[in-house]
Amino acid sequence: MTDVQVSPQRASDEPTPPMSPATSVQEFLDHDARPVPPVLRYSINEDLGSEPLDVERFISREFHDREVEKVWRKVWQFVCRVDEIPEAGDHIMYDIADDKWLIMRTNSGDIKALSNVCLHRGRALRTEEGRVSELRCPFHGFSWNIDGTSKFIPCQWDFPQIDQPTFSLPEAKVHVWNGFVFINPDPDCESFDSYVGTMLNDWERWNYDDRVIYSHFGGIINANWKITGEAFIEGWHSLATHPQMMEWLGDENTQYDVIPEENWSRQIVPQGVPSPTIANHISEQEVLDSYYETRAFYTAGKGRDLAMENGQTPRVPADSTARRELAAEMRVALAKQFGTDQDHWTDSELLDGIQYFLFPNFYFFAGPRTNAIYRFRPLGNDPDKCIAEVYLLAQAPADGSKPKAPKTRWLQPGETFSDITEIGLLGPVFDQDYANLPHIQDGLKSLKTKGIQLGRYQENRIRHYHQILDRWLAK
Ligand SMILES: [Fe+2]
Repeated sequence: MTDVQVSPQRASDEPTPPMSPATSVQEFLDHDARPVPPVLRYSINEDLGSEPLDVERFISREFHDREVEKVWRKVWQFVCRVDEIPEAGDHIMYDIADDKWLIMRTNSGDIKALSNVCLHRGRALRTEEGRVSELRCPFHGFSWNIDGTSKFIPCQWDFPQIDQPTFSLPEAKVHVWNGFVFINPDPDCESFDSYVGTMLNDWERWNYDDRVIYSHFGGIINANWKITGEAFIEGWHSLATHPQMMEWLGDENTQYDVIPEENWSRQIVPQGVPSPTIANHISEQEVLDSYYETRAFYTAGKGRDLAMENGQTPRVPADSTARRELAAEMRVALAKQFGTDQDHWTDSELLDGIQYFLFPNFYFFAGPRTNAIYRFRPLGNDPDKCIAEVYLLAQAPADGSKPKAPKTRWLQPGETFSDITEIGLLGPVFDQDYANLPHIQDGLKSLKTKGIQLGRYQENRIRHYHQILDRWLAK
């Protein structure tokens, strides 16, 4: 629980940016088949200005270096799920710019973030993930316990200057929330709850503690980490980038919420409704058919199979809508898949892309179905490259079993996301997204205006993102 108890509110007498003339998310919610909780009923549309964004923040090494000092070494950031490191000695590596962290499960069951560098001559202690009983440097054999305390100093007579009881590996702060592990390298940082602020209230409805990872994959993208992240906090690029989605994705209907002075934002992208650009030319049945055809990844690839199990193509009755029928089908499909009651979920939570972003590296979707988590961070100190990862989470099986988290699959040279067959039609969608990014990074270096333009409403989250970044850079 948090001590912040109110959902975010906007000051009433401030100007607001333009709004789309299309049906709003709130209007769709008026017709939801289930009672809509307050968490979906607020919208925060703030005028954050219209100045072009300076391209230097995406391409300059000097700007990157400031980000490392003022952001990556100061803020809470997502590093892994608890189920990736279930047993003592299990660890993953989290590299950020030049900093190397080991996220380690200790004998007491706690999770620690230990510096992954030998305090003798600076060799990385671990270069692969797994389970260990100690951390032993391969160079000379200096060793640490898995809680970071010094275990063994070889030829100790030669190191009279080292006080072994204090020769522990440096640590970052750790906080576990909803099954997600976060670290903060700054020993004087604010608490996680304070950093996350009012967003915690929203998530009282969505508990991911027992979610399991069924896929985790990633690759290197030839674009700045912010360019990459920005491609996932607006939905209207679907028009040009993902045209196959237009029949069931309300791109221009999307609600974008920016929370002043806080470190998070969100969007709600309606699904099961056609894009306003084609809404006059498409029937409800065509929306539904298209959804099943191209959105089959919505329950780990099983949704369409479950819906069509009896060999029947679902039909939209004359007095219903594709959105209502899809949501009803989803309640049945999820209950069947997970063996638990799913009846109370709103149409919105079952269908829409309700996506939260917590600065700087955590993008996550709310609701009961398959949930994607995105993470983007710099690769080393190269402002032209980033590490992009996707976790796919699902509800835990009803029998209480805890499937082992799969190993991270890293795309190899020449591979695309479409080569990851278990994510089905999601792979080609990511390929469409990532195809843009290197060309943005290249293009920015040649942009004669030296500043990029942002839509006042549909790209307001991007402006908000940069205002969060600016606040941290100014500290
Ligand atoms: Fe996209």
